Amino acid sequence: EKGGYDHFMLKEIYEQPDAIVDTYRGRLLVDEGIIRMAGVDDNIEKFLNANRIIIVACGTSWHAGLVAEYIFEEFARIPVEVEYASEFRYRNPVINEKDVVIAISQSGETADTLAAIKLAKENGAFVFGVCNVVGSSIARETDAGAYTHAGPEIGVASTKAFTTQITVLSLIALTLAKAKGKLSKSDYHLYLNELELIPKKVLKALTANEHIIKISETYKDASNFLYLGRGFNFPVALEGALKLKEISYIHAEGYPAAEMKHGPIALIDEQMPVVVIATKKGHYEKVVSNIQEIKSRHGKIIAVVTEGDIMVSELADHVIEVPETVEAFTPLLTTIPLQLLSYHIAVMRNCNVDQPRNLAKSVTVE
Ligand code: M6R
Repeated sequence: EKGGYDHFMLKEIYEQPDAIVDTYRGRLLVDEGIIRMAGVDDNIEKFLNANRIIIVACGTSWHAGLVAEYIFEEFARIPVEVEYASEFRYRNPVINEKDVVIAISQSGETADTLAAIKLAKENGAFVFGVCNVVGSSIARETDAGAYTHAGPEIGVASTKAFTTQITVLSLIALTLAKAKGKLSKSDYHLYLNELELIPKKVLKALTANEHIIKISETYKDASNFLYLGRGFNFPVALEGALKLKEISYIHAEGYPAAEMKHGPIALIDEQMPVVVIATKKGHYEKVVSNIQEIKSRHGKIIAVVTEGDIMVSELADHVIEVPETVEAFTPLLTTIPLQLLSYHIAVMRNCNVDQPRNLAKSVTVE
């Protein structure tokens, strides 16, 4: 059932190229130059008339929501707020019929997300679901939705759910961008083409596995890790840190790279591995200077870079390459090595990767 892999998590990491194809199949029609998604197309006015989009989710799904915030604002110029479902539901939020709420949930059973949806509906908002499990509570409770077709995710640590959620949310953002006339024809087609190429690039990113095993050997006994990224890759830093925490029990924190000097830089010494997402474009030079700051404090740098990078490669202790793509889609690639890194470190520490202590696959109680 694990298809020859040692753990479900590893199997699911490797399933991502296919899972992403399954998710955009029949929706991303590059030859015709269109995106077809019934849940969005049938409700396009609701989206276009919205004052803002509020995304509610928990855990990794919340991280996908943060990536989506950057993508929606960049492509469609619609203001987006991303909320922890647990905070939103108890905050007496300001919400009304001019709001569109997108709930993201792999399982479709997360109690806080479900409660947030009910609250949004009571206040007249249009609620759209992005779920993986067909017929789940959240899928049924929402007004409309689009499934991620990732297939069953068994490992408690979410992997392919995350990348397929970003895929669906990118398709929605592009649909809205087109409907609002916010992207030029050529840019729109460029993004469609790039999205179609992502599965092949994920496959390429996975070939860093052996190299990541070696890096994992070096750092498996660390007590702390810092993850840094900017822009579209700031949420990837959060996701990388969450993945390491939950399966290896190593304390890890994700931060926007520029926030480092507002506190966490005090933690950096020769004992501190710092994972930095430093792909081209996206404030590359700024990230390079962040790396210099870490280096001058003797932190150990593991950098995720664009193929062929020279500048960061000279500074970092280790570099992991991912193929080039448009900035907005880099999270689909940069997250891959971070999944593998946490997986291998956890295995080397003899942790129960698929069922980490204290955690359940879906959190159906608050
Ligand atoms: O099923 P959901 O997407 O609603 O689950 C949300 C979180 O419980 C989930 O992403 C959790 O954080 C994962 N264990 C992260 O790997």
